[in-house]
Amino acid sequence: MKASPRRLTITAALPYTNGPIHIGHLAGVYIPADIYARFQRIEGNDVAFICGSDEHGVAISMKARKEQTTPQQIIDTYDAIIRESFTDFGISFDNYSRTSRAIHHQTARDFFTTLYEKGAFEEQTNQQLFDAQAQQFLADRFVVGTCPRCAHKEAYGDQCEKCGASLNATDLIDPISTLSGSIPEMRETTHWYLPLDRSEAFLKTWILEEHKGDWKPNVYGQCKSWIDDGLKPRAVTRDLDWGIDVPLEQAKGKKLYVWFEAPIGYISSTIEWAKNKGIDWEPYWKDSETELVHFIGKDNIVFHCIIFPAMLKEHGSFILPKNVPANEFLNLEGQKLSTSKNWAVWLHEYLQDFEDMQDALRYVLTINAPETKDNDFTWSDFQSRVNNELVAVLGNFVNRVTVLTQKYYQGIVPTPGGLSDEDQSLLHQLTQTPSQISQSLEHFKFREAAQHYMGLARIGNKYLADQEPWKLIKTHPERVPTILFVALQLAAALAHLGEPLLPHSSKKLKAMLNLEHQTQSFTALALAQNLLQPGHQIAEPQLLFRKIEDQEIEQQLNKLRASAELNKLPLEPKTYEPVKDLIHFEHFSALDLRVGSIISAEKMPKADKLLILQVDLGFEKRTIVSGIAQYFDPEKIIGQQVSVVVNLAPRTLRGVESQGMILMVTKSDGSLEFVSPQQHSENGSLIS
Ligand code: MF3
Ligand code: ZN
Repeated sequence: MKASPRRLTITAALPYTNGPIHIGHLAGVYIPADIYARFQRIEGNDVAFICGSDEHGVAISMKARKEQTTPQQIIDTYDAIIRESFTDFGISFDNYSRTSRAIHHQTARDFFTTLYEKGAFEEQTNQQLFDAQAQQFLADRFVVGTCPRCAHKEAYGDQCEKCGASLNATDLIDPISTLSGSIPEMRETTHWYLPLDRSEAFLKTWILEEHKGDWKPNVYGQCKSWIDDGLKPRAVTRDLDWGIDVPLEQAKGKKLYVWFEAPIGYISSTIEWAKNKGIDWEPYWKDSETELVHFIGKDNIVFHCIIFPAMLKEHGSFILPKNVPANEFLNLEGQKLSTSKNWAVWLHEYLQDFEDMQDALRYVLTINAPETKDNDFTWSDFQSRVNNELVAVLGNFVNRVTVLTQKYYQGIVPTPGGLSDEDQSLLHQLTQTPSQISQSLEHFKFREAAQHYMGLARIGNKYLADQEPWKLIKTHPERVPTILFVALQLAAALAHLGEPLLPHSSKKLKAMLNLEHQTQSFTALALAQNLLQPGHQIAEPQLLFRKIEDQEIEQQLNKLRASAELNKLPLEPKTYEPVKDLIHFEHFSALDLRVGSIISAEKMPKADKLLILQVDLGFEKRTIVSGIAQYFDPEKIIGQQVSVVVNLAPRTLRGVESQGMILMVTKSDGSLEFVSPQQHSENGSLIS
């Protein structure tokens, strides 16, 4: 039975057109959003993947001042650059609009009017910060000062980027105008406020109760702290000259606050798209069955989880987001990405240096995504991920299987004979991975999805290395058709499964396998028997990825060194643990290392880091206390095979005797991974 398709409205934060976009934007927002949208389309769901340029607000005016040009010039320039980057990296928006378009101005004004007529605003006349020198009221980024919440010295008039507090300009301690550097005076002006305090009860139930456990902890936690702090009315109009006019007679010359109108850009972009397609836009925003998902960075959480939903709710006819899978921030070589300090990898520059290598960056940014905490992009990690994973595992596997098929069978998929245990186990894994990946993707765990994907390629690569068809062709030629048949099935699966993650390479691989224009849902892949039938002709092999040379990395680091020098930033080379003193062979061989399986795991009471494990070593079962509780959910590691030092003298930890030690890999982000056999091995097997 086929489940009926879901309808999803997937939005990605509208980028400000005050500069090009960099890897932080891609990793935090656009890659996960694109993977999710592509996946949902492949599954046969009805997807509207919506974005556009955010072209109002102080960020744009400031850039125009700095470059001594007009806001219009600025937005036209960067809208074009940003659009091109998105196209180049395969971000598959269904519509990419602009908030400067008439359709958006109209939609935003109508939205305001509806709320106004409902009495949803409070009109307040009070004293606001005014820069007498620049003859300008100061709000948002026109003013900086000390955050009343966390004491950060460079909080903006609407938000503190350090602690995420959402602020009114008058909340800032010691405000300074960013226009003239002067200390502002106070002047009276009238504005319209959205009384968020009135939405408190609704937000409490909707977020804190209904989304408990299903929203990511970082998102839920931020929302909770805002709600707990108490919500205050927020002005939704501004005294500015760049923006959308407030549709009220008595508000002549005033503009809508950018954070009031920009999220409405998701709606106007959907309307524009539907119009172009000749379909009805309303189901995408008004049908309660539609799943609205906002992809954003963590600095946007308050606007998407509190303010915009309060507006939608007040309006009355809109659905609310089902999920807001916000990411944390990506750093670059240990430092915060910064446009002004040119501490960034700009997408258009990346492509000049690494032509046609979009997927390499997509992969590295996914496997290292700042999903649960801030994460670091380093060029050396980029190089090793590309060379050791994309080239040496995925690329190598695909290349071997296609080249051998050409060489032995003129590119025709051979007919398999009887299947060995290894063949069967590989084919079995093929039916498991699609649902593992889709589970991860449905839960917005993009790193995990990428790990499953690469894991499958690794199994394929190992299979060929173990089977050695290039040797068997001389000794046991009758086995070779089966081996290549099995390996080709895996290559086809990798082509299909790679579509969301590595769309360019997946397309290339499909072309190589003569599977162009074929799409298989992940659901179908889990059930598929043969993805390539015997007799199917494949095309010429081509390389999927190329190696990154040391000098290319050096060149990138040199670019950063130049920025670092200009801005006095320390650029520290990655440090490795020093190598320990030499030991002799006897010392090494005195170690007794065995494979074991975890058969039970529980948290050590009152200890954050410790798990009490029962490990089956074949010859006996042992209790081992291991300091891995922060990285593993006890329930999820049952059955996991591990490497155990079995002749280590027992130690008592918190009253529990630990009878051995489990080997772990410490990853560059500090997390841990088990050292385990690539395929299931008998418990008690020797490791040497
Ligand atoms: N331009 C904003 C930023 O870059 C994001 C706007 S998202 C929207 O932080 F919801 F307002 F559209
Ligand atoms: Zn703060």
